Parts: sequence; structure tokens; C-alpha cells
Amino acid sequence: MESNYYTICYFSDETTSLNKNDMEALFNQSSSFNNANNIYGIFLHIAGKYLQILEGNKAVIDPLYARIVEDSRHKNIYEVFNKKTDNLIFKNYNSKFSIVKTTDDLDDINNYLESNRYDSRCDKLSRLLAPFLMFREA
Ligand SMILES: Cc1cc2nc3c(=O)[nH]c(=O)nc-3n(C[C@H](O)[C@H](O)[C@H](O)COP(=O)(O)O)c2cc1C
Repeated sequence: MESNYYTICYFSDETTSLNKNDMEALFNQSSSFNNANNIYGIFLHIAGKYLQILEGNKAVIDPLYARIVEDSRHKNIYEVFNKKTDNLIFKNYNSKFSIVKTTDDLDDINNYLESNRYDSRCDKLSRLLAPFLMFREA
């Protein structure tokens, strides 16, 4: 059966800064839904911004993305790309949807992207992540 895989990448600004519990709840809800629905990708929150990559079947990620776009916890959603793909970049990364919590996690993703250049999206993502790498804790 022909796949209908899509990769969506966006970043946005938080509307209010969530406390630790609320952030944890958002992360948990996202990873359990995404893992249960074969959605791969990454989700990170740094310096008031969210960056998310969602990959999977269009029929599954489109309705999810529609819910995310409507979520009042963020605004100014900037879509970097939303396109059909043959290769799910993050399918082999940790074999699950990844929440990026530490700068080590971010380094790992960066290294993964550098060593797995499926196509031009990987370069674009590396460039996008670069500014986030500057927020490393001292
Ligand atoms: C920045 C951001 C990213 C989100 N990412 C996901 C996600 O990857 N998966 C998910 O299930 N929910 C995610 N959510 C939560 C959804 O917006 C929504 O609350 C959730 O799908 C439950 O929707 P419902 O209350 O209509 O059932 C995200 C929310 C925000 C603010």
C-alpha cells in the first residue's frame, strides 16, 4: 500500500509560561497520544518557544495538527514545512516520539540529523535547531 507520510514542522510562542506540572502534563499527553498513533518527531520548549516536528500518516497528523493550531497555550505559529515524504526522519530516532528536555537531548538530535541526511529537510532542521543549542545551561 502506498504510504501517505507527511512531515510537519513549526515553531510558535507560548502564550503564558506553564508551570512545571502543566508542562509535564502537556508533554505526557503529547507523547502518549503520538506513540499510540504512530506519530514520530520531536517536541521542545525553550526560552518561551515551542518547536515541534510531527511525522506520520496524513490521516492521523492532519487532525492532530488542526487541534494543536487551535490550542490557546501558544500563538504565532510559523509553519516551516508541511509536506509529503517517503522517509520519516525520526522513525529511527529512539523509536518513539521524543520530548526534548535537556540540552543533551538536543545535542543528540543534532548529531542524529548530521549523521542521517535523508534529504534537504535534515539540513534545514539542523539550521533551525542551531539557535536553540545556544540556550545551553551554564
Ligand atoms: C505547543 C503544543 C504542542 C502540542 N503537541 C501535541 C502533540 O504532539 N500531540 C498531542 O496529542 N497533543 C499535543 N498538544 C495538545 C493539543 O493541542 C490538544 O490539547 C490535545 O490534542 C487534546 O485535544 P482535545 O482536548 O481536543 O482532545 C499540543 C499543544 C501545544 C500547545
